[in-house]
Amino acid sequence: MRKAEVKDIPAIMAMLEESMGNGYMDENKCREHIESPKSFLYVEEDEGKVVASTLYIIENMQSAMDNSKEESEVLSKLSRGEPIIHCKFLCVDKKHQKGGFGRKLITELEAYIEKIKAAGLVYTVLCEYNNAIPAKSIFEKNGFSFRKKLGQVWYEDEDYYCAVCKGRCRCEGYTYFKKIGE
Ligand SMILES: CC(C)(COP(=O)(O)OP(=O)(O)OC[C@H]1O[C@@H](n2cnc3c(N)ncnc32)[C@H](O)[C@@H]1OP(=O)(O)O)[C@@H](O)C(=O)NCCC(=O)NCCS
Repeated sequence: MRKAEVKDIPAIMAMLEESMGNGYMDENKCREHIESPKSFLYVEEDEGKVVASTLYIIENMQSAMDNSKEESEVLSKLSRGEPIIHCKFLCVDKKHQKGGFGRKLITELEAYIEKIKAAGLVYTVLCEYNNAIPAKSIFEKNGFSFRKKLGQVWYEDEDYYCAVCKGRCRCEGYTYFKKIGE
């Protein structure tokens, strides 16, 4: 695992477009996340090639409420007033999927976040398609617990073309939470 650099932008964008679709994050946003102290954009390499990427963002209360569909009181209690981090995506290059790269990246980044005590709560919204939640095992084995089903949360985003749905996203979203420092 290493921190993403500006030179990684084309590889990250290509993975996102191929596996998740168009309009999930543009190049400018990708650059902002590389430079922002509130973002953790990390990559995994195989033989010098970027094959997996994940983005964790320290969120303010309003965006944590919007993305997790939780009340501020609940989030404050779970995070004990410490920062809340949202894992916005995990994406692996198609040819490298099911090769252990996704698991390795999340396991190493979770260990790093615990080590530097970056948050009180980490959450993610996992998607379901073809009757499976592909990333479920990775997050559960890293200490995340299922919280609730959100429904088709990505459908609201008209600019997002989902690679699985081949149009506006009808995947179901499920929140998974992990309390840090317990
Ligand atoms: C889902 C994804 C992130 C998993 O990463 P990966 O490197 O392929 O997965 P790993 O090889 O580390 O496998 C970890 C576990 O996930 C499971 N898994 C991987 N892809 C899966 C899929 N499409 N459906 C169901 N389970 C899947 C593996 O079987 C393995 O399970 P195990 O712990 O029971 O042995 C990756 O395949 C990917 O980017 N897919 C496309 C985009 C996507 O679906 N993102 C996740 C949104 S929820």
